[in-house]
Amino acid sequence: ARRDRGRLLDLHREVSRFFHSLLLKSPDAAHAREYLKSRGFGKEMAERWEIGWAPESARTFLDWAREKGVRGRDLVNSGLAIQRDSGGLYIRFRDRLMFPIRNDHGDVIAFSGRQLREDPRSGKYINSPETTLFKKSNVLFALDRSRKGIMNEKAVLLCEGQIDAIACHEQGIENAIAPLGTAFTPQHAKILKRYTKQALLCFDADSAGYTAAERAFRELAGEDFSVRVVRMPPGEDPDSFMQKNGTDAFRALLGEALNFFDFKIEHAKSNGGLSGPQERAAFTRDCAELLSVVSDAVSRDAMINHVATRLRTGVPELRSAVADVARKGA
Ligand code: UTP
Ligand code: MN
Ligand code: MN
Ligand code: MN
Ligand code: MN
Repeated sequence: ARRDRGRLLDLHREVSRFFHSLLLKSPDAAHAREYLKSRGFGKEMAERWEIGWAPESARTFLDWAREKGVRGRDLVNSGLAIQRDSGGLYIRFRDRLMFPIRNDHGDVIAFSGRQLREDPRSGKYINSPETTLFKKSNVLFALDRSRKGIMNEKAVLLCEGQIDAIACHEQGIENAIAPLGTAFTPQHAKILKRYTKQALLCFDADSAGYTAAERAFRELAGEDFSVRVVRMPPGEDPDSFMQKNGTDAFRALLGEALNFFDFKIEHAKSNGGLSGPQERAAFTRDCAELLSVVSDAVSRDAMINHVATRLRTGVPELRSAVADVARKGA
């Protein structure tokens, strides 16, 4: 099993180099280089992240693999190929911009591939499947190069997409990471806890991002994190925001991040969630539910006081609503 693991790591390292050199040099990858440029990525940036291009032609990939002496079984075990019923191999990543995903030692263990032209027949991003190397719920993109930054900033900056994490690092914001095509998991919180207890959430300013922020709050607050949320203009993500407004403006947003519940209240206000007595009652129950996940009793109490004051509801009432939720295990 250990040998298999070593072979799969070797394979990922080699494939990543292969994709990278195709991106930089292949005549067939001109459109990928063009795309990269349009996204504000220079050559050095592509080199720092070993970004690559998966060839359109399965032949190109399979010829390379044969030349390298890679076994078909390893291509299947790595998720780079899928066994067809007919016996042949189907290549997972074709004509995509490839982002290597690394474990905390910096070894490539999977890939995320982005479409170069919009095609609704498949996802904008596809990732490697779960393999013996890659357990999605345990991996955070860019964590291998963020540990120092997280310690220095005494906080982690959690983004939604790997492009966001990359854009942050390239601008010297070196505590930025992203989960990979999955919601933030309990394991993610446990991993981060080794480095910090402060999280800054910077998910996309849309409804998916809002849902993701609540989900991350649950996991992080359950591990004693203090959680703040960065507010961006509607529709933006860290990458698009910096492209439009520059790094200084983004740093200013980071500095103005709100405590999670202040963010939630602000969000509710601007969405009519506090307009009438019924809405307010529902919102208060919603807050009580989220407050009940806060594991640290002292912070939970402080948050209950704060939220009750802002919602102009009684502290004892909110406290007992929180206790109710906790008791029902909702
Ligand atoms: P987004 O749709 O916000 O993508 O999804 P993005 O990161 O802003 O990418 P660009 O700027 O359009 O290139 C956020 C994250 O969700 C996952 C990816 O990890 C992505 O970075 N995702 C998204 C998928 O896994 N599959 C998809 O089809 C879309
Ligand atoms: Mn290890
Ligand atoms: Mn999005
Ligand atoms: Mn996005
Ligand atoms: Mn984006």
